[in-house]
Amino acid sequence: MGHVGVALAKAPRMRKKSAGRTTREAPMVIREARSDDARSLAELVTQLEHPATPAEIQQRLAVLPLGSVLVAETDTEIVGCLTLHVTPVLHRAGPVGRITMLIVREDMRGQGIGQALVEAAKQRFKLRGCVLAEVTSNLRLKPAHAFYERLGFRKTSWRFGKQLDA
Ligand SMILES: CC(C)(COP(=O)(O)OP(=O)(O)OC[C@H]1O[C@@H](n2cnc3c(N)ncnc32)[C@H](O)[C@@H]1OP(=O)(O)O)[C@@H](O)C(=O)NCCC(=O)NCCS
Repeated sequence: MGHVGVALAKAPRMRKKSAGRTTREAPMVIREARSDDARSLAELVTQLEHPATPAEIQQRLAVLPLGSVLVAETDTEIVGCLTLHVTPVLHRAGPVGRITMLIVREDMRGQGIGQALVEAAKQRFKLRGCVLAEVTSNLRLKPAHAFYERLGFRKTSWRFGKQLDA
């Protein structure tokens, strides 16, 4: 996958996360994921209660459309991941951009990384002519809903899911 390094549109804010401990200041980029990110991505996806091995992640990366997986990376490690998809539809004047997964490593939350990933996704949606950005978020992830609302997303639909037998 191409390595498109994009400086964070909004530098992560440095906030005190707990008494006496300030989050570190680290240069960070948002870029497209590569197959050698599989180990870090497997850890993040597993934290979202979707257990996956690095080998499984590598296989999935290989078939996902180019540019679907963005990572936030400090100078040494991957600390967040977002997946996005662009869907052409009949009933709107342009495609719909959907964020299908977002996670920031627990110890790095609250520094603007999630917001920067969403902004990077929105930029890509705009470049591809999308008329709507949407996100699906599991009902159990309540704090994430407040995060999306803070970023200007509004709850407009219910999603009905059904597991399909193999
Ligand atoms: C949701 C998540 C991605 C947010 O990432 P983050 O890097 O911690 O969020 P940011 O620091 O970019 O926050 C951006 C804004 O949202 C607000 N926000 C973040 N989490 C929030 C929460 N739980 N409740 C209310 N507001 C929240 C921040 O205060 C900030 O607002 P501000 O600019 O007014 O200060 C992160 O908490 C996470 O990975 N959660 C677990 C996985 C998950 O639920 N993913 C969503 C699946 S679709």
